[in-house]
Amino acid sequence: MTQATTPQTDSAQAQRDRIVREAIAEISHIATLPEITLKIIRLVEDPDSTAQDLNKVITHDPALGARILKVVNSAFYGLPGQIGSINRAIVLLGLNAVKNIAIAASLAKLFRGGQICPGFNARDLWSHSIAVGTTTRLLSQEAELGLPDEAFLAGLIHDIGIMVEMQARRAKFIQVIETVQGDPRISFREAEQRILGADHEAFGAALCRTWKFPSSFIFVTGYHHRPAELAVRHRTLAAAVHVADVLCAGLELGYGRTVETDQIDPNLLVQLNLTAEKVDRVKGRVHEAIEETHNLLGSPV
Ligand SMILES: [Fe+2]
Ligand SMILES: [Fe+2]
Repeated sequence: MTQATTPQTDSAQAQRDRIVREAIAEISHIATLPEITLKIIRLVEDPDSTAQDLNKVITHDPALGARILKVVNSAFYGLPGQIGSINRAIVLLGLNAVKNIAIAASLAKLFRGGQICPGFNARDLWSHSIAVGTTTRLLSQEAELGLPDEAFLAGLIHDIGIMVEMQARRAKFIQVIETVQGDPRISFREAEQRILGADHEAFGAALCRTWKFPSSFIFVTGYHHRPAELAVRHRTLAAAVHVADVLCAGLELGYGRTVETDQIDPNLLVQLNLTAEKVDRVKGRVHEAIEETHNLLGSPV
């Protein structure tokens, strides 16, 4: 029995992988991270690199440097006094945090596209991404998970697979939007799987692999609608993003049709060290925090 079904499953998986690979290859010239951001990622991954190397790369791009300092000096960090140099920011926040800020500051331009069709505007997806990034950050602080910058970036990129679909398979993507608008019973991922042959989790995970992002981001993009399917040791960040995604859809912050439930699994909350009170506290702070993020990261157009 198993032998009869395995080849079929394998070929469905292989077909899906091929669809994802081809779409990613086609957009590699459009939806790439800016060269400077890739340089920063490579640099931080290199164990021999120093804060001086990172400083040198960032100072070559004054606009990015200015944006990073704006983020560093924002209420996000609550640092005493104004930080005037990238070097000082690296000393205070660490290489990894500055890398994450640089990536976040360069992402807005990937969400260009405006109104794709009735019912979908790329800007609403950016608003959703900002909301989920900010909320994941607040949840991680409330739960004392550590790494608030990583949490923020994870939330910011969780639905990046949709941008792959939008850029590489525009006509089919419009069909997906029309389908989910016409039928409230179908989930976004079901419509994607039926029309595109793969969903935004698969496209997003593949894009993060192409960008050589850490595996925690591949788990987030690939499993944020079903974090319980991940092994417990890989689950935390994807689970936090999942909770943020559900909260933001409930609060109608940006494009939320991709979210499949309005209930947060109590087991996930326990695993995240979150309580209903902590979630309520986050809800109370979220609007103001999102506005601040919008001001810091700008808009895609
Ligand atoms: Fe999603
Ligand atoms: Fe989402």
